[in-house]
Amino acid sequence: MTWMITGGAGYVGAHVVRTMLDAGESVVVLDDISSGVPSRLPEGVPVVRGSYLDREALRRAFDRHGVTGVVHCAAKKQVGESVEQPIWYYETNLHGLAVLLDEVVGAGIGRFLFSSSAAVYGTPPGDDVITEDTPCAPMSPYGETKLAGEWLVRAAGRAHGLATVCLRYFNIAGAERPELADTGVFNVIPLFFDALTRGDAPKIFGDDYPTPDGTCIRDYIHVEDLAEAHLAAARRLAQPGASGDLTVNLGSGTGVSVRAMADMIAEVTGHREPAVVVARREGDPARSVASYALAQKELGWTPRRDLRDMVTSAWEGWVLRHPEARAAG
Ligand SMILES: NC(=O)c1ccc[n+]([C@@H]2O[C@H](COP(=O)([O-])OP(=O)(O)OC[C@H]3O[C@@H](n4cnc5c(N)ncnc54)[C@H](O)[C@@H]3O)[C@@H](O)[C@H]2O)c1
Repeated sequence: MTWMITGGAGYVGAHVVRTMLDAGESVVVLDDISSGVPSRLPEGVPVVRGSYLDREALRRAFDRHGVTGVVHCAAKKQVGESVEQPIWYYETNLHGLAVLLDEVVGAGIGRFLFSSSAAVYGTPPGDDVITEDTPCAPMSPYGETKLAGEWLVRAAGRAHGLATVCLRYFNIAGAERPELADTGVFNVIPLFFDALTRGDAPKIFGDDYPTPDGTCIRDYIHVEDLAEAHLAAARRLAQPGASGDLTVNLGSGTGVSVRAMADMIAEVTGHREPAVVVARREGDPARSVASYALAQKELGWTPRRDLRDMVTSAWEGWVLRHPEARAAG
């Protein structure tokens, strides 16, 4: 097999590239470097600089590198931005996916792996863990493009004999090495790091949720565990005669409250500025915790890294880009 990894210079994609290479897989990256960082890629990996909306670039790359499977990580991923620019999000994430799938089918490539998201679930009712049977009700154009993307992937798979896997990521954190860390400041961990670096109090959005300490509960998954799940899914797809579709959650199965996260961040970073509680944000579910039982059963995958690993490695990545942060600790 030769796997094309779209978005391979991105945060998730770069970890997938390294995990697959380390496991002996043959890999080629397609990335337009719109949000990716080329230096995340190891030396020697073939990189095609282009968009997955560009049919000619896809055809040339499939042909030249003998691609036999695609891991589609590239996408736009910011919820707020998707609310402001829904047409662009549908164009890139969904129309682009249709273009890519059309070229994949046309080239006779039989395996496709899709980066989906827990955003497909929206605000799940109740306290139960989220299984793949939990009804999907995305609350943003971003989440909609991921859910409709899954529908398209599965339908194209059925119609054209493409074996597919959709992976629904929960909250991703950490890095295999500091250079690979996420550069965005959109999630709770970098938002806390950012405030602490500036000497400001980090913000907790609401402490009156129906949870034990009143703050929202989330499921964090280490990006290396996530990358290992991609390898397991790719290997399943590569089996002779692989067919059908599989959609699985990728989370740790453990709920962490924002307050508990604040405590862990203080411990790891040495920054003890107490967090301040501000008003709730609209649309934040009280609790979102995955069941990963299906991924365990179908992929033989289990997450292995804990919250301290995630926060410590994320902090190392942060101080690499913000050296003043360590000094202020
Ligand atoms: N990071 C998260 O918390 C998270 C959570 C759930 C799902 N996801 C999904 O995981 C995937 C990867 O996310 P990430 O965090 O690595 O994002 P990222 O922005 O770091 O990486 C995306 C990569 O795709 C590339 N890209 C974007 N548009 C492209 C195009 N048209 N053609 C070619 N390359 C293009 C970018 O340059 C970048 O390298 C996305 O599909 C995202 O929706 C991410």
